[in-house]
Amino acid sequence: MRNMLVKPRVLVLRKLTAEVEERLAKTYEAVFSLDDKPMVPEAIAQALYDYEALVPTVSDRITAVMLKGAGVRTRMIANVGVGCSNIDVAAARDAGIAVSNTPDVLTDATADTALLLILSVTRRAFAAEKMLREGRWGGFSIVGGLGASIQDKVLGIIGMGRIGQAVARRAALGFGMKIVYYNRSPVSGLGFEAQGLDSIDAVMAVADVVSVHVPGGGGTPLVTAAHIARMKPSAYLVNTARGDSLDQTALIAALAGKRIAGAGFDVFAKEPEVPETLRKMENVTLLPHIGSATEEVRTAMGHMAVDNLDAYFEGRALPSRVV
Ligand code: DGY
Repeated sequence: MRNMLVKPRVLVLRKLTAEVEERLAKTYEAVFSLDDKPMVPEAIAQALYDYEALVPTVSDRITAVMLKGAGVRTRMIANVGVGCSNIDVAAARDAGIAVSNTPDVLTDATADTALLLILSVTRRAFAAEKMLREGRWGGFSIVGGLGASIQDKVLGIIGMGRIGQAVARRAALGFGMKIVYYNRSPVSGLGFEAQGLDSIDAVMAVADVVSVHVPGGGGTPLVTAAHIARMKPSAYLVNTARGDSLDQTALIAALAGKRIAGAGFDVFAKEPEVPETLRKMENVTLLPHIGSATEEVRTAMGHMAVDNLDAYFEGRALPSRVV
């Protein structure tokens, strides 16, 4: 491809880190987002007719209707993200369009964010900081602002893939938590103690903290209202996967009804919408989808997307092909 006379036209839908954009600009006729705003669906649909490749991210929905259009020119979609729930990958496969993602490079950063949420909600960090910032702190108190210790408590992991395992490892080896998990297929070689349970229900019923690591985008959330109803009233839930990995309405109702102790969200069902009820609660920590947001990791994700693009246009196997 580097010897090709005509550089492939590539549309980069959101801003990437400078280093990655420079690399793209050297090899491709690349068009970049100037304002870093999500493109409207009509513009994305049109882009499929105008560009050989797209570089989207989680905010850019690429639907079956868009992909099935006669005359679509795009042959390759290099998603900047490990989750591809923004793309109808089955429709892409049917249309003969390759899709790649960016696994591994964001595992540790996302696991760190899950731990950040776990610590934040169990130690009531938001409520405490809010009180302080509002000038309501009357000084040190033995009985004020008490949270819950996580040492010796049970962490329930829903989805023991790469990120679920990285969270469990940190929690077990770094914070002395006991790990239970549910995973569709058997998991081996963890290197720390963890007990696999045979259903999400079983995990929900025993966990003091639940951490969700299953994909979204399937229509029905994998963690349902019935699962949430199984949680202990003293339990917390954190979600760094996708907003629609769980039934967000049911989770908010459980929080509002004090049927669980608190929750940490890095992802939401209809981003960037965050329900007002949730924004008013003090026993939740709300982050704006920053699970992998470090300079290093977002740069590594960008490079991985470009590695996939390069491989596609050079006729090599993609380093991380989804379909
Ligand atoms: C991912 O990679 O899936 C993260 O959510 C960021 O997009």
